[in-house]
Formats: sequence, structure tokens, C-alpha cells
Amino acid sequence: MTRSEQLFGRAGRVIPGGVNSPVRFYEPYPFFAASARGSKLVTADHRTLVDYCMGYGALLLGHAYSAVADAAKTQIDKGTLYCVPTEREVKLAEMITKMVPCAEMVRLVNTGSEATMHAIRLARAFTKRKDVIKFDGGYHGAHDYVLAKAGSGAASVPASEGVLEEASAHTSVVPYNDAPALERAIEKTRPACVIIEPVLANIGLVLPDKGYLSDVRKITQQNDVVLIFDEVVTGFRLAPGGAGEFFGIKPDLATFAKALGSGFPIAAIAGRKEIMKQLAPAGAVYQASTFAGNPVSVSAAIAALDVLASGKDAIYPQVARTCDSIVEGIEEEIEDTGGLDCTINSIGSMFQIFFTKDKVRDEASAKKADSAKFRKLFDELLKRNVFIPPSQFETCFVSYAHEEDDVDKTVEAYGEAFKKIKEQK
Ligand SMILES: Cc1ncc(COP(=O)(O)O)c(C=O)c1O
Repeated sequence: MTRSEQLFGRAGRVIPGGVNSPVRFYEPYPFFAASARGSKLVTADHRTLVDYCMGYGALLLGHAYSAVADAAKTQIDKGTLYCVPTEREVKLAEMITKMVPCAEMVRLVNTGSEATMHAIRLARAFTKRKDVIKFDGGYHGAHDYVLAKAGSGAASVPASEGVLEEASAHTSVVPYNDAPALERAIEKTRPACVIIEPVLANIGLVLPDKGYLSDVRKITQQNDVVLIFDEVVTGFRLAPGGAGEFFGIKPDLATFAKALGSGFPIAAIAGRKEIMKQLAPAGAVYQASTFAGNPVSVSAAIAALDVLASGKDAIYPQVARTCDSIVEGIEEEIEDTGGLDCTINSIGSMFQIFFTKDKVRDEASAKKADSAKFRKLFDELLKRNVFIPPSQFETCFVSYAHEEDDVDKTVEAYGEAFKKIKEQK
């Protein structure tokens, strides 16, 4: 019996399902982690894996990036929680307003879910309307407002029990990459806000068609609907100013987490001053948290953003090149295998493969992909010490720490996995 199997047996007795977040489980049991550094994750069974889960996108700089880890260690010796304001919170908010085009003001929170929940509350208060429009396969956290036809772990399970029907009744879901459908839904529901992952990263990876995001901006603006970019994945990853900068579009509000903290729990809501100023104590929208702006996460985030802002001309092109080499290598392996019905979507430092010959441009086309083949791919890659997120409805993340050697190993592992998939037919 492996150490991971033993630990999973113990975990199942005290942790529901043996994991603290459902996406971490896969049959028969997940491997347990012992440590990580750079592009590698070491398992409880002493195996070293090339990691493409990368904290589901949080670790753009790689595991245990020294400047970030040092900033956190230094802060720990000075205290971990004050619950009074600090200069460093002001500094971090100033940095975010400089980097993110739509960010006139910033409120720090702890998780992406908290950020989207309060961004929606802000939009409701600002417009005095109730409804929310989201997109098929878009994931914005596990709270009641947005857990309708969601992506990530929620893509493979029935609608969650315990979610208030009254809350879901105010959430409409429209297909991504379909501007007329959004227009019709806005006309019908007169919503407070539209919340969108600019690039869907929780239903596999799905890119916006050319001009789609500017259509979304135009339609929301014309109808006085608050546009929220959920940049929990894309923020500070696609570009220093996230998808807003990458696509040249300014939403009214945006939410950030993941790459902001480079592995530490921190998130942010940012956007137009007149909307943000409604937050208590400046305004009447209540939002509060004991750990918001805690000095350890804030110090880590300052260090991370410092590195990303000052090194942007080297970091972003390098990570994109690494991702491109992996994708090109995988495509060559597919050809060498004599062809497989599959399609790969990629942008910046993110990629995902779907086992379908059709283009994947929304949830419906993503769900047509053969998930049994994806599962086989996951297993075969893991046997070869390459770890990708275990679900088709996630994205693979490349970091600044991934090197040529990782790329070679990864491409070779994909090639061997494809042969096994082909044999299985
Ligand atoms: C786009 C997006 N929004 C929100 C969330 C929720 O963030 P958290 O898990 O930090 O609550 C996630 C998590 O994966 C996400 O990918």
C-alpha cells in the first residue's frame, strides 16, 4: 500500500470525501503532496512530478518562489495578524491600481469566492436591481449567487443541494461567445450585473472569439449593467494588468486572487470609484473579514507584484514561449501517433486539450469531448511523473519556473500517453 493510499484511508475517516476541495479527488485516491519547489511537486511517496496544476493557476512564479517566501517569512516574525490597518495594505492597493487599468479603488479579501460574492453585492446596490447574468461553464466560486451551470468541480456533478432556489432564481446563464444571447438575456432580466471569466478556465480552457469581449462591454454599457471581469485566474497572469490589459477592455469591477498572492490566500475586488465607495464603512454595502489584508498574505502579494511588474518584459514572454513549446510539442506528438481527434486551446501561460475534433468555443462544445480519453491521459501522464489537473474541466498552467527539460519530459510523456490512448480504441 502506498503512503498516499494510507493517508487517504485516514483522511476519509475525518474529512468528508478525504479532501478539502472536491476537485482534488479522483478514483481510486489522490496522491498526497509532501513538498514543492519551482516546477516540481514531491509526493508523500517520494515521487517528483512536473506540476501543471500549479495551485490551479496561483503559482505563476512557481512553487516557493524565493522573493515571495522570504517576504512572508520576514513578516511572520513581526506578527501574523493585527486587525488594524497597515502601511503595506495601502502599498499593495496602490500597486494594484497602477497595474490594473480598471482599478481605481481596491478592497482586499481572502478568496476568489469572497471577491465575486461582494462584487455582485456591490453591483446590486449600485444599480438597485437584483439579477445576475453569468455564462455556461463559468466558475466564480461556490456561493449561492453563482453556482448555476458552473464550471470546475461543479461541471461534473448535479446542481448542488442546499443552494437557495430564491438566490438561483435571480441568476440567468447564457452561452459564452454568443453576444446576441447576452443581449436578449439583458433585455429580459434587466440585471444588476454580468459576471464573466474573460477567458473561461474552468470548463477546460475556452478563448473569447475576436471582438466578443468588446461586444460584451458595449452591450453592458448601453444597458447600464455593471460588467464584472472575474480575473481570479487571468489576473496578473495573462498580463501584469490581467485580461483587462491583455484585451484592452475596462470592466466596471474586477475580481482577483490566485496569482496575486503567488500561493498565499489573498484576493481583491477592484474597480470604479463610484461603485467601490459603496463598501462599508464608506458606504452601505457591508463586507468584512478578520483575515482581510493580513500582513503575511499582503507581504507575499507585494513581493509577487514587485517581481511581476519589474520583470514583466522578461517573465510574460518567457512563460508564453514555454507554453507554446509544450503545445507545439504535443501537436507534433499527435501527428506522430497518426492523428487523434483532439483540439488544443491555449493562451499566454495556459493550455488544455480536448478529445474532440470540433473547435471548442463554449461549454456545449467542451462537454462533447471524450472525458474517458482525458482520464486515460491523466493516468498515463501521472505514471510518467507529469501532473495535470485531474479533470477535463480545468486548465493546465505553465509557470516561470518551468524549464526546457520540463518541456521535453512533458512532451515525451504526452506522446507516450497518446499511444496508449490509441491502443485502447
Ligand atoms: C474564475 C474563478 N473565480 C472564482 C474562483 C473562486 O476562488 P476561490 O477558490 O479562491 O474561492 C475560482 C476558483 O478556482 C475561479 O477559477
